[in-house]
Amino acid sequence: MNRDDIANYFVVEKLRDRTATIRAIKPEDKGLLLEAFKGLETGSIYMRFFGPRKEPTERELANATEVDFIRHVALVVCVRENAGERIIGAGRYFVIEGPNPPSAAEIAFAVEEDYQGQGVASILFRHLLRVGREQGLSRFEADVLPGNRKMLRVFERAGLPVETKASSDSIHMTIFLNK
Ligand SMILES: CC(C)(COP(=O)(O)OP(=O)(O)OC[C@H]1O[C@@H](n2cnc3c(N)ncnc32)[C@H](O)[C@@H]1OP(=O)(O)O)[C@@H](O)C(=O)NCCC(=O)NCCS
Repeated sequence: MNRDDIANYFVVEKLRDRTATIRAIKPEDKGLLLEAFKGLETGSIYMRFFGPRKEPTERELANATEVDFIRHVALVVCVRENAGERIIGAGRYFVIEGPNPPSAAEIAFAVEEDYQGQGVASILFRHLLRVGREQGLSRFEADVLPGNRKMLRVFERAGLPVETKASSDSIHMTIFLNK
């Protein structure tokens, strides 16, 4: 999978009672991403950003949607709603060692509340793993708040070797991809 393949990533998956598409984020997604952010509850925002967060600015939306698919890879999960598309989840990673060759990346996710508990994050993680492996990554790193059992379980359920290091305010997870 080269950069263009990743930038055009598109897969259809089945959720509990509907289908969803897992696709590469694109610059035209700013409006949909803003709507998705507005749909997140305070608790989810806190878990994702480690604190309160105001609505993203134009620049933040540009950073989140205009990604290079080399150092920064972002996938979204979308469903059809009212004749349009809705982003119900987003996952991204930033290469922190590399990119020549890329070896480790920091990963994070968020799923809209009304779609949580249906495997959306697990599906996203599976696709990010696939892309990360294709890029040659050997590790994902994630910082998770200690109370965020849902996220910890998503990583654990993937069945990959995981190393955790707890500090006073977060759990640092290293997930090894070479299995
Ligand atoms: C953490 C978070 C991403 C998890 O998203 P999610 O889509 O609910 O996660 P999943 O659906 O994959 O897994 C959650 C549950 O769904 C269940 N599930 C239902 N259907 C499933 C399926 N088809 N496949 C896998 N799991 C499924 C799982 O068993 C799991 O239950 P458990 O937690 O009791 O073991 C989401 O809660 C979130 O966005 N939180 C706020 C942001 C955040 O914390 N980000 C993390 C920073 S890195």
